[in-house]
Amino acid sequence: MLGPCHLTFVLLAMAITCTGTQRTSLWTEDCRKSMYPPSGPTYRGPVPWYAINLDLPPYDRWHELMTNKQPVLKIIVNSMRNIINALSPSGEVMQMVDGNLSKILGKFPAPYEEEMKGISDATNISLGEIIAFNIFYELFTMCTSIITEDKKGHLLHVRNLDFGISLGQNVSDSKLVITEQLKLLTVNLDFKRNNKTVFKATSFAGYVGALTGFKPELFSLTINERFSIHGGYLGVLEWILGKKDAMWIGFITRSVLENGTSYEEAKKILTQANLLVPAYFILGGKQSGEGCVITRERKDSLDVYELSPKQGRWYVVQTNYDRWKAPLFHNDRRTPAQMCLKRVTQENLSFSTLYNILSTKPILNKLTVFTTLIDVTSNRYETYLRDCPHPCMGW
Ligand SMILES: *[C@@H]1O[C@H](CO)[C@@H](O)[C@H](O)[C@H]1NC(C)=O
Ligand SMILES: *[C@@H]1O[C@H](CO)[C@@H](O)[C@H](O)[C@H]1NC(C)=O
Ligand SMILES: *[C@@H]1O[C@H](CO)[C@@H](O)[C@H](O)[C@H]1NC(C)=O
Ligand SMILES: *[C@@H]1O[C@H](CO)[C@@H](O)[C@H](O)[C@H]1NC(C)=O
Ligand SMILES: *[C@@H]1O[C@H](CO)[C@@H](O)[C@H](O)[C@H]1NC(C)=O
Ligand SMILES: *[C@@H]1O[C@H](CO)[C@@H](O)[C@H](O)[C@H]1NC(C)=O
Repeated sequence: MLGPCHLTFVLLAMAITCTGTQRTSLWTEDCRKSMYPPSGPTYRGPVPWYAINLDLPPYDRWHELMTNKQPVLKIIVNSMRNIINALSPSGEVMQMVDGNLSKILGKFPAPYEEEMKGISDATNISLGEIIAFNIFYELFTMCTSIITEDKKGHLLHVRNLDFGISLGQNVSDSKLVITEQLKLLTVNLDFKRNNKTVFKATSFAGYVGALTGFKPELFSLTINERFSIHGGYLGVLEWILGKKDAMWIGFITRSVLENGTSYEEAKKILTQANLLVPAYFILGGKQSGEGCVITRERKDSLDVYELSPKQGRWYVVQTNYDRWKAPLFHNDRRTPAQMCLKRVTQENLSFSTLYNILSTKPILNKLTVFTTLIDVTSNRYETYLRDCPHPCMGW
């Protein structure tokens, strides 16, 4: 008999694998300098832009992009199957994904259900697999996000996206298979209505949520994974059992980016919404003091930590640990990021100096897929694919 418990069990097993195999940090380095504009061995290449037309019906929006990216998505879905099968060798879970995951999970809210159906049909990848692929991202994004404010009140928001799956190391070149494949799926998306940009995001083709994005002249938003004992698996289980009032985190950020009208409104929604899994929301605005890290349990907001330039708090840094707790020693990206920020000083904040920080090991590591730099006020949005050549930490 297949049931929801199996799914939960596998998700749990995967999360433990993800956090539990991290190794002691052997490869750290002094704050990097002169890395920008990106070049050299830590720069893999640019990220292609695609427009997503929100005036089209949800089913049709992703068609062009997905037709383009179908072969790569197929490969990564197969890797995902291998991982799931390795964790559940009887094959039951994969049968469930193939057979009736979409039935078990029930309907997703508009526009996500139709968008995923459209993606499934455009790629000939089953809807169950597309849904599983979308859930994957909810659970495994390790990251570093930073918001800074300079002396003139100008804000910058930057992030590294690290994909937190350590399974599937390629023995022949020691690269992480999934991380490598995700680089091929990484796209910049320009979501448009009436032929005008509504928001921009960096995403993986096939994923309909948003983990990194901005709304020109309004706000910027990134999500970091938060591991919690009151974790996401309960939320996923409740969802399966029919309690559908909670939001998937990648979906709530997409909604906020698409339909949000101000920093304050976005902050309110992200603080109050019921979530399926715990998360950190890192939200930046356009005026002095508009920058915060929202630490979320599924139902409650535990902490809203804001910029406060008058009190000398000119940056906020968030990785995957609550700020009032020490990071795990072997996974500490917070301390080096803070140290490098202090060295840059508030006088010298720029895309260039922040890219330097995000290029410093272990903030840059083998799981890092891309670096995004956002300037809401001047409408600048840049994303770069990253590499971290040996010796580099892969957890
Ligand atoms: C899922 O499919 C299997 C076999 O195809 C079936 O036995 C099971 O009842 C289905 N479960 C649901 C919830 O539809
Ligand atoms: C999907 O399958 C249909 C029918 O088998 C085929 O005509 C179509 O070309 C396939 N599309 C892709 C993107 O592989
Ligand atoms: C592993 O690395 C080798 C050498 O770079 C490459 O040819 C092969 O395709 C990789 N395997 C996977 C599964 O990515
Ligand atoms: C959309 O905007 C682009 C660039 O401004 C322009 O070239 C194009 O003609 C516009 N398309 C429509 C349908 O208005
Ligand atoms: C944004 O609002 C429109 C109009 O209410 C709605 O149709 C759409 O689904 C919303 N988008 C998201 C991502 O929730
Ligand atoms: C500011 O940062 C740039 C780029 O890293 C560097 O070249 C310059 O020396 C720095 N200036 C000061 C005053 O630290």
